Amino acid sequence: MILRAIRDDITTLHVDAIVNAANCTLLGGGGVDGAIHRAAGPLLLEACRRFNGCPTGEARITPGFRLPAKFVIHTPGPVWHGGTRGEPALLRDCYRNSLRLAEENACASIAFPCISTGVYRYPKFEAARIAVETVRAWEGELPQEALFCCFSDDQLELYRQLLNR
Ligand code: APR
Repeated sequence: MILRAIRDDITTLHVDAIVNAANCTLLGGGGVDGAIHRAAGPLLLEACRRFNGCPTGEARITPGFRLPAKFVIHTPGPVWHGGTRGEPALLRDCYRNSLRLAEENACASIAFPCISTGVYRYPKFEAARIAVETVRAWEGELPQEALFCCFSDDQLELYRQLLNR
């Protein structure tokens, strides 16, 4: 799998699936969640309502509606409480379950935001390390390309250092 780090607005990416750092209600919110719902339009919220929420670490897939991406994979990341409540394993599950849904839906390309590193306050370096390790360890045939879509230069730099190791 090709792994790349970019700095961009994930709602503009022409990939098969973008991942949404959602919350457990799946009813939208701020941050990247809010941006994706705004760009996808109201049908996204309607599609999300059918799931009646989603537990942290699991993932659900919907069409992308008005987004350039075919699909949105919604995954609630863990809120950071110091690392003693299973946050690392839950964050790994977000990436793994998103990749599983991408493969099941024949997605050749996927873009991840920096899950949990905004409102959920996950330490940025630790989160990036888990993201890269988990995606690198993926053994499925698909996706063939994974983009880490950063929203700041400092996070882009973190991913670039990790990807160059
Ligand atoms: N494109 C790419 N990345 C973005 C975008 C965007 N348009 N907007 C924000 N980001 C980045 C943030 O800068 C951060 O690095 O996404 C990362 C995740 O931050 P949040 O969106 O705050 O998500 P998270 O920390 O996982 O918290 C989830 O926030 O928005 C609410 O409904 C959401 O309750 C949930 C919580």
